[in-house]
Amino acid sequence: MILIKTADEIELIRKSNLLVSKTLAEIAKHIQPGISTGKLDRIAETFIRDHGAVPGFLGYQGYPKTLCTSLNAQVVHGIPSDKVILEEGDLLSVDCGVLMNGFYGDTAFSFEVGEVSEAVRRLLVTTRESLMKGVEQARDGKRTGDVGYAVQHLAEANGYSVVREMVGHGLGSHLHEAPEVPNYGRRGTGPKLKKGMVICIEPMINMGRRQIKQDPDGWTIRAADNQPSAHFELAMAIDKGKTDVLSTFSYIDEVLNKQKN
Ligand code: MF3
Ligand code: CO
Ligand code: CO
Repeated sequence: MILIKTADEIELIRKSNLLVSKTLAEIAKHIQPGISTGKLDRIAETFIRDHGAVPGFLGYQGYPKTLCTSLNAQVVHGIPSDKVILEEGDLLSVDCGVLMNGFYGDTAFSFEVGEVSEAVRRLLVTTRESLMKGVEQARDGKRTGDVGYAVQHLAEANGYSVVREMVGHGLGSHLHEAPEVPNYGRRGTGPKLKKGMVICIEPMINMGRRQIKQDPDGWTIRAADNQPSAHFELAMAIDKGKTDVLSTFSYIDEVLNKQKN
């Protein structure tokens, strides 16, 4: 069953996603060669609790941390650790969730550590663009297959591959609700999107082949060919007109633009 949220509920989900967006911007300030992903995780947890929320991933199916920090060929669900030290040229995908007022926020961004290769830069740009192509399709009357097709089409047109095993999802008082929102598919197929539904779209795009494998830690998912992988995620409410995006990358972009100048 796909829940339709009231306007009041959507405002609460927006607040939770704005806090995640701001937490990722706080993390952005600290991403640089030499810092550990364990340190980033502690910064995120403190920031979230200081803002009256609790980490949304901590304890979820036994997950041990606040963030998922997935480095280079790691696709998603990398576990933060004091032993993982960022290096110049790394690609770091950071996924964050919070629970506040009974509703979840869930948003992810892939960062460059120092200067990255042109190939990695292009992967990041394209993955973010593929997410925005999906967001454009997330409107009343469209189907999840329209979203998936749009994401897949852009990613594959650029020579990349789409991870199939993990998908976007509904979001609300649970972190993962119906419907599943695959990042691949055929137009006009899948559940119909209606005003008041809230979903996350979260393409995981591989530079090489789409196959993945899981590390022995039971969480970390990586590209089987060990080539780089990127992940971006936004939450949004379905509306009759333009999509009402409930998370934002603008705080992150602000921090990154300042670093460049
Ligand atoms: N990456 C997932 C999502 O965005 C959530 C991670 S749950 C965790 O939907 F337990 F792995 F953290
Ligand atoms: Co997420
Ligand atoms: Co998600």
